Amino acid sequence: MFRDDALSGKVALVTGGGTGIGAAIARMLGQMGATVVIASRKASNIEPAAAGLSRQVGRPVQGMACDIRDRAAVDACVNNVVSAHGRVDILVNNGGGQFLSPAEVITPRGWDAVVATNLTGQWNMTQAVANAWMLANGGAIVNITMLTARGFPGMAHSVAARAGVEAMSRTLAVEWASRGVRINSVEPGLVNSSGFRRYPEGAFDLRELQRRVPMKRMASVEEIAGTVCFLVSPLGAYITGQTIVVDGGHSLWGDNWIIPDPEPLPEVVIPREEWEE
Ligand SMILES: NC(=O)c1ccc[n+]([C@@H]2O[C@H](COP(=O)([O-])OP(=O)(O)OC[C@H]3O[C@@H](n4cnc5c(N)ncnc54)[C@H](OP(=O)(O)O)[C@@H]3O)[C@@H](O)[C@H]2O)c1
Repeated sequence: MFRDDALSGKVALVTGGGTGIGAAIARMLGQMGATVVIASRKASNIEPAAAGLSRQVGRPVQGMACDIRDRAAVDACVNNVVSAHGRVDILVNNGGGQFLSPAEVITPRGWDAVVATNLTGQWNMTQAVANAWMLANGGAIVNITMLTARGFPGMAHSVAARAGVEAMSRTLAVEWASRGVRINSVEPGLVNSSGFRRYPEGAFDLRELQRRVPMKRMASVEEIAGTVCFLVSPLGAYITGQTIVVDGGHSLWGDNWIIPDPEPLPEVVIPREEWEE
């Protein structure tokens, strides 16, 4: 759908680019002509992914080990990208994750870990690329978040972090617009990706979850990547500070958290004023 030279000359950094949604974004950016660097914690994820993406794209995709929670590691990663490739025009803050838990049993450590990854980690990368390159030269940032508008029962920590990222992005969009930096967020709905393999066996019944989506299916990773690539391309040049929902209508309809009915349900009698018949 996109021209293969639409992003030629551009350098893109994709966190969590070795798996799932991030790998699809990295592949599509590479197919549009960008030089792509992928980064995540585990060298064992990033190295084979960089080799595989290089084969698919037909040009080198570089892998870097970096934990986005570690500010020194983030600064080193961004400086390495700028030293190796001379610039960083595109950042996709895709790296993230959480565990499923009723809110009342999330431990302080669990809460802090999820916020460190999904809010502070995205902030670390954003501020680092801004200071290293984008505020002087322009650039485009896209954050992958999650459906935040209706809350996200079972993921109170992560939805709080993601809503924070979206609010941060609206703020930075204004602060940095005149410096040529655009920043937007993409909220995926249910995506058929590696992320679901990280949950314990049986945590989700994915076949069943499709019923809750008006389109009655999960998104493919490419359907998320396409929106990201649109936003960072010249087609998105006048879009900043926005949150784009890519969810097949999921957030408009359906139950995510089944609340049992009381037995019996209360009687309903519509009250009358004393003068009414
Ligand atoms: N799948 C869905 O339905 C869905 C829906 C809404 C939002 N999302 C979000 O979309 C993003 C991608 O999800 P996915 O489905 O592709 O799952 P995934 O395969 O689990 O992707 C998460 C990626 O983030 C990296 N990562 C995690 N913690 C990191 C850290 N501290 N520093 C650097 N990298 C880190 C992981 O690599 P390492 O383990 O090597 O660090 C991995 O490559 C995540 O933020 C996820 O929460 C997914």
